[in-house]
Amino acid sequence: MSASAFIFKLTSPYTLTSRMATQEEERSLQISSLQRRQEWIGARVVAKFAYLRSIGSPATTGVWSVLSDQALHEVPESRMRALWIERPQTTGTPILWDSSRKQLVSSLSLSHQYPYVAAGISCCGAIGVDIQETTAFSDDFVNHFLQAESGLLLAKAFEPPVSRHAKLTALWTLKEACFKAVSLSSGCTNLRQITIVELDMKGLIEAFSGSNSGATYALRLRTPSGLVSLGFKTINFDRHFGSAVWPSAPGKAASRPTSQLI
Ligand SMILES: CC(C)(COP(=O)(O)OP(=O)(O)OC[C@H]1O[C@@H](n2cnc3c(N)ncnc32)[C@H](O)[C@@H]1OP(=O)(O)O)[C@@H](O)C(=O)NCCC(=O)NCCS
Repeated sequence: MSASAFIFKLTSPYTLTSRMATQEEERSLQISSLQRRQEWIGARVVAKFAYLRSIGSPATTGVWSVLSDQALHEVPESRMRALWIERPQTTGTPILWDSSRKQLVSSLSLSHQYPYVAAGISCCGAIGVDIQETTAFSDDFVNHFLQAESGLLLAKAFEPPVSRHAKLTALWTLKEACFKAVSLSSGCTNLRQITIVELDMKGLIEAFSGSNSGATYALRLRTPSGLVSLGFKTINFDRHFGSAVWPSAPGKAASRPTSQLI
């Protein structure tokens, strides 16, 4: 598996500080909101876990696994403290380093919405992850950020029926994950500069039904620098949705984008 993503529920945030490198701990103390600081630390700890798991037992990683407290605490704190994550102001995209400043994964992506945090890593090309609690989006917001994509999804009948809020939240996480994955390479600074033009709807139907077959799906994006094909996986958990997107190797994606949106 070239990409993996984990979600973690923050239950004991203070114990996670000891998994921060010194420079991360110093940076975290500049975050005045306690909840924001917990999210910031939590997402980084999950990213470090994802990396250490990917080198320790790659067969057990995949896109979207729930990380338990127990699994997290099985990793020695010292191994996590030896890694650190930096997010350059210029690009926004986080980078995972070891103490000799060797970049450890091709790409890393973080997302948080208290009490959940998520992280994805990819060994070959840019990954994006996003989590979001099911939200009532205003029409103005949808027209502004999801205009191109929402039509087919909102028009389509699902069995069992899916609420408008759920459909838009799932789509929003997908689009945010796409933005995180391609903003650096495509030079876009705004979500409206990218459009999902094809999407294998089976990936969303699976998420709406709350199942997780392990399959991954395909989508295609239009970006300022051209069309991009990605694999994706969306999940539905505790009234939230989470999406991860990553570069799909030719012939490796579990599906082809079938639903023409635009
Ligand atoms: C940057 C953005 C993707 C963050 O998403 P979010 O849903 O607000 O927050 P999340 O918790 O999901 O993600 C935050 C993480 O995204 C990452 N991130 C920020 N900018 C990023 C970028 N340009 N590329 C990739 N990842 C980025 C960071 O790691 C951050 O976590 P950290 O602060 O702990 O380091 C989002 O604000 C966005 O879409 N910006 C684009 C501009 C735009 O169109 N904004 C309108 C949105 S209403």
